[in-house]
Amino acid sequence: MEAVGQLAGGIAHDFNNILTAIMSSGELLKMKIGSGNPLKTYVEYIMDASNRGASLVKKLLAFSRKEAFYPVTANLNEIIEGIGPLIKKIVPEDIDIHITPSHEVLTVMADRSLIEQVIINLVANSRDAMPSGGVISIGTGIMKLDDTFTGTHADLSRGEYAVVTVSDTGAGMDERTRERIFEPFFTTKEVGKGTGLGLSSAYGIIKQHNGGIHAHSTAGIGTTMTILLPLVHAAGEVTETEEAALPPGGNETILLVEDDPIVRGVTQSLLKEFGYTVIVAADGADAITLFAENKDKIRLALLDMIMPRMNGKEAYEFMKKMAPDIKTIFMSGYAEDILKTRSIIEDGLQYISKPVSPVELLTMVRKVLDEEI
Ligand SMILES: Nc1ncnc2c1ncn2[C@@H]1O[C@H](COP(=O)(O)OP(=O)(O)OP(=O)(O)O)[C@@H](O)[C@H]1O
Ligand SMILES: [Mg+2]
Repeated sequence: MEAVGQLAGGIAHDFNNILTAIMSSGELLKMKIGSGNPLKTYVEYIMDASNRGASLVKKLLAFSRKEAFYPVTANLNEIIEGIGPLIKKIVPEDIDIHITPSHEVLTVMADRSLIEQVIINLVANSRDAMPSGGVISIGTGIMKLDDTFTGTHADLSRGEYAVVTVSDTGAGMDERTRERIFEPFFTTKEVGKGTGLGLSSAYGIIKQHNGGIHAHSTAGIGTTMTILLPLVHAAGEVTETEEAALPPGGNETILLVEDDPIVRGVTQSLLKEFGYTVIVAADGADAITLFAENKDKIRLALLDMIMPRMNGKEAYEFMKKMAPDIKTIFMSGYAEDILKTRSIIEDGLQYISKPVSPVELLTMVRKVLDEEI
């Protein structure tokens, strides 16, 4: 599992660059050809396929625990309460859904969208196990693991946990299947139906949260999946991320620093298309030379994190010496990159993860440019 994880992480890194290029080119094409053009269908195929690719990479990265991960304090019960509409979208009407969060506040450190993704994966599996209908129950509670604990979550450290259970009245699994369900690419579904990445990504995500996930199942009766997340007692603020709106462009000059030529090319076109003037550099060393020559014009530096010769953070440090109030956005596709340059988050610098969707990028560019320093 470890080796597959490493392989997956390695592939995903390059793949995110490829997908960024495809998605941005597709978006530009869509804008150029207009809505009446018969070629629009093909552009939509490109966008659909690259979105599917992006979600596959996300699952692989989740499994290898290298997905960008932003935990904040959150009430798990609120996450579960909010998930109903998402579930209704993927479950047919002959399946009843009961969501019964407990009454206490379950404060956990969680990345909301990742936890939602896990629950959705579990619900999708329950749905698939009940082709002729049934019941899915989702509940929450608290569990204490003490020193004498030797049960199914024996690998977790002692303490209090928030628990989510997702149960179904479906086909269940025999022991041989149950033992393998968290393996990447393990599926009992027919070709084209399942990738076998749902539970392996759920496993990776929950491990990343320092939690545990376990299946209890009886063939012919049903399945209960249990997730444990460490409870934290700080009554911190729950931060929510806002939905991205359609971004306006601008006419500022932006320094784009990216070593991948395709990503550099499409990102440059995208920014130009929205009115910006773009100066491009292929690595950090190039970037500081160009910055020194144009520092009166450049309002924002868009920096890839990992590059040959000089990385994004180092280049930023140089630029900051020349122009202390230079604005920056870092781009990368890897949680590890952020860990290596942890100070990016600690310094409160802006960060965007690959594959970068054009809307997300343009929105952030505008936001950062408009910020008062
Ligand atoms: N609730 C469930 N009831 C019965 N079997 C299940 C349940 N959840 C998982 N399984 C079994 O575990 C296997 C692996 O699940 P997993 O979610 O990882 O992959 P998948 O559902 O086959 O494909 P994917 O989720 O990538 O579309 C399934 O193919 C199925 O055999
Ligand atoms: Mg699945």
